[in-house]
Amino acid sequence: MKNIAVLTSGGDSPGMNACIRAIVRSANKKKIQVHGIQYGYDGLINNDFKILSPYDVGNTIHIGGTILKSARSDEFRTNEGRKKAHKNLRSNNIDGLIVLGGDGSLTGAKIFVEEFNFKVIGIPCTIDNDIYGTDYSIGFSTARETVVNAIDKIRDTASSHERIFIVEVMGRESGFLALESGVASGAELILIPENNNSMDEVIKSIKKINDKKKSVIIVYAEGCKFGTLNELSNKIKNNIQNSNVRVSILGHIQRGGIPSPSDRILASILGYESINKITEGYTNKMVGIINQNTMLLDLEDAISKKKNINLSLNKMSNIISRY
Ligand code: F6P
Repeated sequence: MKNIAVLTSGGDSPGMNACIRAIVRSANKKKIQVHGIQYGYDGLINNDFKILSPYDVGNTIHIGGTILKSARSDEFRTNEGRKKAHKNLRSNNIDGLIVLGGDGSLTGAKIFVEEFNFKVIGIPCTIDNDIYGTDYSIGFSTARETVVNAIDKIRDTASSHERIFIVEVMGRESGFLALESGVASGAELILIPENNNSMDEVIKSIKKINDKKKSVIIVYAEGCKFGTLNELSNKIKNNIQNSNVRVSILGHIQRGGIPSPSDRILASILGYESINKITEGYTNKMVGIINQNTMLLDLEDAISKKKNINLSLNKMSNIISRY
């Protein structure tokens, strides 16, 4: 192997730069040149490649976002788009591709390997932490810290004004980010899609907590299916007398910021391992870490198997967070 390419795709996540840095420098050690592709799969289609030297990635370990930019590519979803991408990889003499991204990006990677028999290794990068085959994905730890910092601040004003706050947390269809940040911030109620709550049940719980505490923090994962944020807020207002409800949508602040040490370490290990694995000849795989052991699993499993969420954390939180 002489040349490999790396791209970041889908929603960015803090730690992507630390991972690119590890890839470039580990590859350099093996005398492999790394080509950074700009704007994810779109850059692959548009031949937007630039060589990254070990010095180009200096002073990036602590920077959020991605120096390679990211995109959600519609064209790569088409066979025509993927053909163009393959042609560009061949014409740049690239022997392997490393894809940093979440489930959509890893799905694209798998389709690409199977169509063109190209060497591809995926690295799980998403604040949602919903990828099977790794305890944590790159970016989750930082996002969790961001959410907890925000809720700590909201708690001050919620308490001063005796208000009920509904805080919406990202995570797409899953509640990993909401659950762990809810536990860490002592939220009185954590609502996640994996728990099939009914609106009536939820209102009953909030009423009970509010009668006792007067100020309530409800962490609401964006993927919850039992009702919209507005429906919930209106229901609370209509069913709990004199309730003072506010909604706070944390939004994209959760995707930015200085990566936490945990994310930097995870990113460094997975970047380094991706180079080891691709040079050993592996393809169609994702690298991850489970119980401190580096794992290599099929991309198929990473995208199709369901990662279990620890619902006992929610049960525990209900017991310890309502005094
Ligand atoms: O997958 C990461 C994520 O931040 C989700 O939590 C969220 O639902 C989505 O991306 C938002 O995407 P966009 O930035 O395209 O609005």
